[in-house]
This record gives sequence, C-alpha cells and structure tokens, in this order.
Amino acid sequence: VFEKVPAAPADAIFALTAAYKADTHPNKVDLGIGAYRTNEGKPWVLPVVKKADRAMVNDDNLDHEYLPILGLMPFRMAAAKLILGANSNAIADGRVGAVQCISGTGAVFTGAQFLARHYPVKGAECYISKPTWANHRAIFEGVGIPVREYPYWDPVTKGLDLKGLLGTMQTAPAGSIFLLHPCAHNPTGVDPTPEQWKQIADVMVAKGHFTFFDCAYQGFASGNLARDAFSVRHFAERGIELFVAQSFSKNFGLYSERAGNLTIVARTPQIKDQIESQIAKSQRAVISNPPAYGSRIVNLVLNDPQLNREWEENLSTMANRIIDMRKALFDELTKLGTPGKWDHIVNQIGMFSFTGLTTAQVKVMKDKYHIYLTDNGRISMAGINTNNVKYVAQAIDDVVRH
Ligand code: LMR
Repeated sequence: VFEKVPAAPADAIFALTAAYKADTHPNKVDLGIGAYRTNEGKPWVLPVVKKADRAMVNDDNLDHEYLPILGLMPFRMAAAKLILGANSNAIADGRVGAVQCISGTGAVFTGAQFLARHYPVKGAECYISKPTWANHRAIFEGVGIPVREYPYWDPVTKGLDLKGLLGTMQTAPAGSIFLLHPCAHNPTGVDPTPEQWKQIADVMVAKGHFTFFDCAYQGFASGNLARDAFSVRHFAERGIELFVAQSFSKNFGLYSERAGNLTIVARTPQIKDQIESQIAKSQRAVISNPPAYGSRIVNLVLNDPQLNREWEENLSTMANRIIDMRKALFDELTKLGTPGKWDHIVNQIGMFSFTGLTTAQVKVMKDKYHIYLTDNGRISMAGINTNNVKYVAQAIDDVVRH
C-alpha cells in the first residue's frame, strides 16, 4: 500500500553527526550538532547532574508511576521562575502557566499546536528569523501555520539586521506570530542588545503581534541566567502575553532525556487555566504524559539552593570554555593573516558561530579536512578545543584563500 510514498531527505544536522561518526580519519573534527564537549572532545555529564542522579538512586520514595498530563508540578513552576525571575509580577498575579514538554522541540510544538487550534487572528502566519534553526519551519508548517521570514543576519556587518527586522515587524499584518530567540541565536550567535530588545517590544506591542520565544540556551550564552533571560523578562514586565519554550538539553547537558517546558504568560489567571486545560487535552493525545527522569533532575537542582549554585558554576565552566575557544580561533586566524574580518567570531555568543563560510567552502572543509559543520557555515564552538583549534584555523584559512 505504501509504494507511492516518496523517501524524505535525512535531517541535515543528525546526518552530519552520523557522517562524522562513520569517518575514520584521525584528525576529524565535529563542529556540527549543538552539544557541549570538553576540551578533550568528550560529552560532559555536569557534576551537579551526577549529584542529583545519585540522590535519586538513593531515594526510596521515587517510583515509576505516571506523571500528571501536564508534568511534574514543582519542575514546571521552577522552570517558569527560572525564565521569568523569582520576582516576576506575572507569577505573583497567578497569570503564569507551565507545561512539561519533550524538551525544546516538544515545547515549540505544543505551543504551535495550541496556536493552530486557538489563535483567534484568522490566517495569522508565523514569522521566523532568516536564518533560524531548521526545525522551526518544520514544526509550524507541520501544525498548519504558514511560515514567513524576517531579516535577521546582515552578511555585510556579520551582525544583526535590526532595520530589516523592525521593518518586517512593522509591515507584517497586525496579530502575526513572531518566533524570537531570547539569547544565543541559533545559528548566528548574534543577539539584540537590551536597548534593541526594547525597540522590538515596542513594535510587537504597537502591532499586536504574538510573541513566541524559543529559549534553548539560558545560562549558556553568558553564563548568567538573568542576563540571558533579559528579553523574556522585559516583555513580561511590560504586560505582554507570550509563550516561552524552554529546553534543558544544553544548560543541563540532558540532551537525550528530553526535559523541557512551555511557560505561558497569560492576561489573567482564568485565561491561563483555559490555555492549560486545552494543552492538557492535546498533550494527552500526543504523549499522554511526559517522562520523569530529566525533569526530576532539573527539579532537584532548581529547588535546592546549594545545587543551584553548583549548577551555575557548571554553566560558567561551559560558557567560559566556549568564550576562550572563540578567542583562540580568532587569534589563530589573525596569526595566519586569513583574508577577511573575523572579529564576529569573538562577538557572537552561545554555542554557535556563523562563520560566513559558503556552502562550497564547507564542502572542502568536510572532504579535505574531515571537519564537519552545517552547510550554512555554522560551527558549534563546543567542538573546538586547544588540540584542534590550529587545525581548524588552517583549514578555514585554506578554504578562504582558494
Ligand atoms: C542544533 O541546532 O544543532 C541543536 O539544536 C540540535 C538539534 O536538535 O538540531
């Protein structure tokens, strides 16, 4: 019955990981998927996660019963508090809802599916940044919401195209949906400044657009949880209704555990209840109820002041190593006199650097040097370490010169 089903292309990012793993070259380098690596190129189980893990193993009160449909209550509340701040007025007003989801992807999907069913602006489209994480388009189109793009990356300045972004926000039909990255923009590593966020919020309010933040890197960008949440907190303080998808994959290193949350800032407590009830109804039909393991770890850490402090130290370790590698790569390129300006590598923030390498250059990096990065020239800075930074810089130098 299925002979007419066309084969779908493999996912670009996961295909890259598979190709890297299959490569037997001794100097291969993985700059593809956004996952933290140590200076030895190894995955890192955060020490605080190990501690929480051990505490859970020894806890005789834990069992494998179902979680409620909307997830582990204290985890949901802690996640909302983490992004909105302990002193959030919206939380004090009782207007904040939260739904445990299958990490960031699940949280974006859950919010998008709710919007597809209940967003009252007829024919509203979702605007995503150009470029953005490929899954954004797939998720919104998957739930039947048409997708458009707003300018974001300026290839000339290798920075933010604020004029283009605000211009599209101004001309988009009132009540459009805007998907924004609150920090550590994927793939560009370029974030608006606090002043620029205020300008963005002004236009979002003036045009009555709906704000959907996708926050996959809180604490990972600057090492400071509050600084990385500035945009979301600013919007919420201005009384803007919004959704925030939160992933704990990167900032807890819990990639495979799929711990995530959708925080909902509604206009009133009653509206918050209405939204949560609809999401509970849909969630039951999609995953029934979310998995417990990852959310229990996050919950233990976020609700224990001592573990929370240790987590912040672990976050700084990751953020600082990445910042150091930005500098190291920049210094190597400067030493080589590689044609072009490379200061964007140190100015960009978070897991990624958008190098400006072309697809053709990326292919040479892969074929000749066994260095794996996405076709758009994005490199995962976490894949760079003191052992391979020279090699990566030499490869970049070579492909830029030829
Ligand atoms: C990435 O962009 O590499 C990560 O967010 C992993 C993913 O799911 O694509």
